[in-house]
Amino acid sequence: MVTTTSKRDVVDAMKLLTVHLRIKRYNPEVDTRPHWQDFEIQAKAADTVLNALHTIKWTIDGSLSFRRSCAHGVCGSDAMVINGENKLSCVNLISDVGTDLVIEPIRGLPVIKDLIVDMEPFFAQYRSVIPYLIADDDPGYKERYQSQDERARYDDTTKCILCACCTTSCPVYWANGEYVGPAAIINAHRFIFDSRDHAAERRLDILNQKSGVWRCRTSFNCTEACPRGIKVTQAIEEVKRAILYDRI
Ligand code: SF4
Ligand code: F3S
Ligand code: FES
Repeated sequence: MVTTTSKRDVVDAMKLLTVHLRIKRYNPEVDTRPHWQDFEIQAKAADTVLNALHTIKWTIDGSLSFRRSCAHGVCGSDAMVINGENKLSCVNLISDVGTDLVIEPIRGLPVIKDLIVDMEPFFAQYRSVIPYLIADDDPGYKERYQSQDERARYDDTTKCILCACCTTSCPVYWANGEYVGPAAIINAHRFIFDSRDHAAERRLDILNQKSGVWRCRTSFNCTEACPRGIKVTQAIEEVKRAILYDRI
């Protein structure tokens, strides 16, 4: 279907709106606990939430702290809770989320300042599943060949940008930070089902331990939160079946 953008759509997208933002603030140097702060700015419907945060930082309060890098949904650094849902601020427009915004840091990780959390526990869990290709045989040629079907087997999980939206939306992870979490399982899946890799059994053994896949209660929050549209819960189920039936 061909969609067209009328002149009126463009004018509406450029019209200035009053946007209210309630942001959870925390500065460990002066605050004993987090508190809410309200801001009001002018923004266009076509602006992103990240644009709105930049407007606050650059024109109202330079101390507002948040992570961002690419501003295009690629680096995964700006996950935050926007109106109760884990999202990337750079890919959600004001027209998507509305003009009344409540913004908090993602849950389950220690807050360093304002919207910045300590990602180290998340990355430690990622590292624990050996998230890289292990192929120690000599292929006898320069490339390790793979058919289209073999590549398709793990295509979905290659899309992960390690934003942590999934893991920090998981109620099991909130209750027990020892749970390896959906993002780590996704990145294990990406190599477990790669026909060139030789370490699937090691990863399955790791994920078969008490902090591994069996903690998952199939809540689906992770799948709903993933900004890359990865079928996170389905991939977790595939890993569970690989452990149970020794089938990769
Ligand atoms: Fe983010 Fe999706 Fe990767 Fe989870 S699976 S870290 S939500 S991109
Ligand atoms: Fe958590 Fe996702 Fe499982 S939200 S319980 S990892 S399906
Ligand atoms: Fe890179 Fe949003 S700033 S994904």
